Amino acid sequence: MSDLISIGQMGYYAKWFFKSKFGKKGPLVNTMIINFNCNLRCKHCSISGNADKLPTPFQIDFESAKGEMEEQYKKGARILFFEGGEPTLWKDGERDLRHLIQAGREVGYFVIGYTTNGTNPIIEDSDVVSVSLDGPKEIHDLIRGEGTYDKLMANLAKTTHPNIFANMTIMKHNLANVKETVELVAKNERIRGIMLNFITPPPYDIALMLEEKKQVVDLALRMKKQGYPILNTTKALRDMLIEDFGALCQDWVSAFVLPDRSHYGGCPMKGTESCKKCGFDAVREYRLIVKGSPSSITQMSRRFAYSKK
Ligand SMILES: C[S@@+](CC[C@H](N)C(=O)[O-])C[C@H]1O[C@@H](n2cnc3c(N)ncnc32)[C@H](O)[C@@H]1O
Ligand code: SF4
Repeated sequence: MSDLISIGQMGYYAKWFFKSKFGKKGPLVNTMIINFNCNLRCKHCSISGNADKLPTPFQIDFESAKGEMEEQYKKGARILFFEGGEPTLWKDGERDLRHLIQAGREVGYFVIGYTTNGTNPIIEDSDVVSVSLDGPKEIHDLIRGEGTYDKLMANLAKTTHPNIFANMTIMKHNLANVKETVELVAKNERIRGIMLNFITPPPYDIALMLEEKKQVVDLALRMKKQGYPILNTTKALRDMLIEDFGALCQDWVSAFVLPDRSHYGGCPMKGTESCKKCGFDAVREYRLIVKGSPSSITQMSRRFAYSKK
């Protein structure tokens, strides 16, 4: 793995940034929900908890996925992220997630990644892998189901992938376990760092109050200063306390494609109550990048946009 970006790619990112400043806004990231299927039923999951309200089909087919990759590439996207459901369960005949990653390379994406619950082996072909880790064993299992922590750790132990990050979603169940989870990541040789997020409701009963979020942000800022591998930038952590992020969201930075090939600028929650209460760090980083924040630009690009296998 090299953290070095080619001059051509750096030039592309710079051009994208300056074009966006002059009103030519287009996506840099293509986030593709390739399926809604999942082998888990996590307590906080907006997808598994709403299966009856989701549009069909539950999975995009290979040719349509490739078509969407090409379409968003033409619009400017160069970073491709596969999401779900559980992306490692995606299949179309003989094809699996590896074939989608390969297709993304053929289209020309600079960086390709996916997010996973870690219950299946890590796919080495991906440039970046984001594994969900919601706490130490008993808490992770409480949220995600018995045995999920051990499966994740066993799959991490088997991989030599050099660019794996943890993604933690903080809710009532793991509010008291943030420090422990960050320490766990710091000790794990296979994980390079952790991204902290708050749950985006629904469900509302396990969402956090502002005072609780403040405690987490203070703790994260302290731990980051002490050198713990928290990937959220300092500014974005502070922005996690903005109570209504809806109007601030630079939703055009990431295209969002669903299995039925419907498209959204940013995310399908736009304009809803969930959008106001959005707990995702990435959207704060996108806003800071567009504003020209040096720390978000350097840290996010080092972690994601530069990360070539
Ligand atoms: C929807 S999952 C899809 C990928 C994979 N199944 C996984 O769990 O990592 C992507 C990420 O969104 C997080 N997530 C799910 N529901 C959420 C919610 N209501 N608010 C914030 N994050 C959520 C998950 O914890 C996971 O890290
Ligand atoms: S593993 Fe991911 S998609 Fe599946 S229920 Fe959990 S958060 Fe949702």
